[in-house]
Amino acid sequence: MDLQTQLEDLKTATLEKISATKELAEVEKIRVETLGKKGPITEVLRGMKDLSAEERPKVGAFANQIRDLLTEAIEEKKTVLNQVALEAALAKETIDVTLPGKQISQGSRHVLTQIMEEIEDTFVGMGYQIIEGNEVETDHYNFERMNLPKDHPARDMQDTFYLSDDLLLRTHTSPVQARTMEDHDFSKGALRMISPGKVFRRDTDDATHSHQFHQIEGLVIDKGITMADLKGTLETMLKTLFGEDRNVRLRPSYFPFTEPSVEVDVSCFKCGGKGCNVCKYTGWIEILGAGMVHPNVLEMSGIDPTIYSGFAFGLGPDRIAMLRYGVNDIRNFYLNDVRFLEQFKGE
Ligand code: DAH
Repeated sequence: MDLQTQLEDLKTATLEKISATKELAEVEKIRVETLGKKGPITEVLRGMKDLSAEERPKVGAFANQIRDLLTEAIEEKKTVLNQVALEAALAKETIDVTLPGKQISQGSRHVLTQIMEEIEDTFVGMGYQIIEGNEVETDHYNFERMNLPKDHPARDMQDTFYLSDDLLLRTHTSPVQARTMEDHDFSKGALRMISPGKVFRRDTDDATHSHQFHQIEGLVIDKGITMADLKGTLETMLKTLFGEDRNVRLRPSYFPFTEPSVEVDVSCFKCGGKGCNVCKYTGWIEILGAGMVHPNVLEMSGIDPTIYSGFAFGLGPDRIAMLRYGVNDIRNFYLNDVRFLEQFKGE
């Protein structure tokens, strides 16, 4: 078979292969096999040295022609297959903008966190610092420094989870008072702090008791602090929380770490004081305990009670949330049931 016929056959066979394939990789394989350095065309061109001087340019020109033709056919096929691949990809990635969107459920801050942050904001606005205390405390700070020596009967008021003889889960946020007082540098001015956090009691859980709940401790120490400062401060806070029209009432009470001690009531935010089921028909709702810091507590923290005085208070965000939202079981706050929590989605 002469070279021209060989080339002619090669052309026909290659064009058929090109037309039959649907794979880009296959087209590239054909190119390498046919036009590459080890392919038949290169072979033919290499064999030309044996041809006569007359035939050589003819065969050479023909071989070049075939090479160009096949190169073009291969390029064309590649363009076509690339286009097909692109169209397939586009079709696959089409987004139907008329389909309904997926519902993404958005979380929110826990209702108790919301209430605590609201109270924190009120006090930060009055120049208080926010102090974080320890959930694991020593007996010393939780009790002794709060004027509750080991044999003090008022220790029974707070059933305690002991971790060892000296370590316990704090039963109230009051130990933060002692820790803050002993650290405070009074040459730099008054001490004004609140401390929100978890507290723990060995209670049997029921609708109004949980072995874990929250408190916010408040403490102000300076020269010349009086009961009037305490009342004014609590009035500001309670009006922010329950509305401008609220009245505040102090009743004598007892806490070992304050003298005198008071229980603080706010006029009922539901009935305005006329009497309803929220205030148990008394017109008043008991909200917190407070008092003037006991001289013993000041002294134990290295503060001279003849120079300095102060007030303290402790309130329960859980109780405030229950009152405000009519939640009748404290355990709901700790069950992590999204259906319950979702009702308090803040902004
Ligand atoms: N620590 C008290 C309790 O858990 C609450 C309390 C009452 C805190 C009066 C105070 C206070 O700072 O002055 O029952």
